[in-house]
Amino acid sequence: MNNIYLNYAATTPMDEKVIDVITEEMKNDFGNASTPDFTGRKAKATLQKSRKIISNRINAQEKEIIFTSGGSESNNTAIISTAEARSKYGKHIISTQIEHESVLKPLEYLESQGFEVTYLKPNRQGQITADQVENALRDDTILVSVMMVNNETGVVMPIKEIGEVVKNHQAVFHTDAVQALGMLNIDVKELNVDLLSTSAHKIYGPKFLGTLYINDELILPSFIRGGDQETKRRAGTENIPGIAGFAEAIERLEDSQTLVKKYQGYKNMIVETLSQNNIDYDVNGLIDSPTHVLNIWLKGIQRDILITRLDMVGVAVSGGSACTAGSLEPSHVLKAMFDNEDRINESIRISFGKMTTEDELQIFVDKLVDIVKELSKEN
Ligand SMILES: Cc1ncc(COP(=O)(O)O)c(C=O)c1O
Repeated sequence: MNNIYLNYAATTPMDEKVIDVITEEMKNDFGNASTPDFTGRKAKATLQKSRKIISNRINAQEKEIIFTSGGSESNNTAIISTAEARSKYGKHIISTQIEHESVLKPLEYLESQGFEVTYLKPNRQGQITADQVENALRDDTILVSVMMVNNETGVVMPIKEIGEVVKNHQAVFHTDAVQALGMLNIDVKELNVDLLSTSAHKIYGPKFLGTLYINDELILPSFIRGGDQETKRRAGTENIPGIAGFAEAIERLEDSQTLVKKYQGYKNMIVETLSQNNIDYDVNGLIDSPTHVLNIWLKGIQRDILITRLDMVGVAVSGGSACTAGSLEPSHVLKAMFDNEDRINESIRISFGKMTTEDELQIFVDKLVDIVKELSKEN
């Protein structure tokens, strides 16, 4: 029996065509884009072409994106470099309790350096509102960082409304769009964001590669210091094959409306089957979020045991974000949403991708029901 992968929010398999492009580039395009010889010129041309494709996708100018080693580096750069560059205007930052660790850890570091951070609490649906941001803004706020789609619940945050609120304030607005790329339409101008992070491995591209959009009007010091690459905003020889693969992954993204419809069908199928089998559950977040994630509380079922049992029958789901999976730490996102400790320890994340089929999902749901029924009897 084939394994069933339902952990696309952690990472995605690379698209075959992306692998082809990367392989070809590795064979034929080994140059350093900063050298003036013919190999460097070829690499530079690939770099420029790829930058154009990727920046177009988010309606940015080519000069407004830099390549990084992934979402984590983009988030670290956005937060730490902004704080360093703007500390003369204030030391207050607004973010949320439900950000990815690659936002929360840099914020923790900044707190140790004398910055003050207001962490907005989500409501029970896992949402943050623009009003909360507006109420938290102060004269000395220099940065607002709110993610676009939460990686554990799939809930979409009102980035456009928050952008409206922050637009006329001195604060820089950053959004972590790592889980949004490919699912939501991203237009940096319409959203009024100054900084936006993406990652290639969430959209069938290579790992260890991402971008940071930096609004042209913003001066952001380099986080990785060294050479003058990426118009002096990120040192290090560019990974041309990976970047070409990222561009290919962008070009091969499927229509998001079609994906949303497909994933909504999968979510409905899961909850309907659970109901038909009298399994007690509740959705964490919103079942109709137009994204690829369903987080579900299976009442009375320990998530660690359930995940292990599913793994034993060849099904991969998650009990938290990829970076903490494997550890027994309760999800900080669910903790922020609910006081109920059982709910936090009895919830799993199921996430879909373009390779997920209806047949696979049917097999998964049947296995899930069987295992949950068995575990309920053991309790
Ligand atoms: C919302 C979010 N931000 C940032 C990251 C980090 O991205 P990367 O793995 O490319 O460093 C992830 C990865 O899980 C994520 O889900």
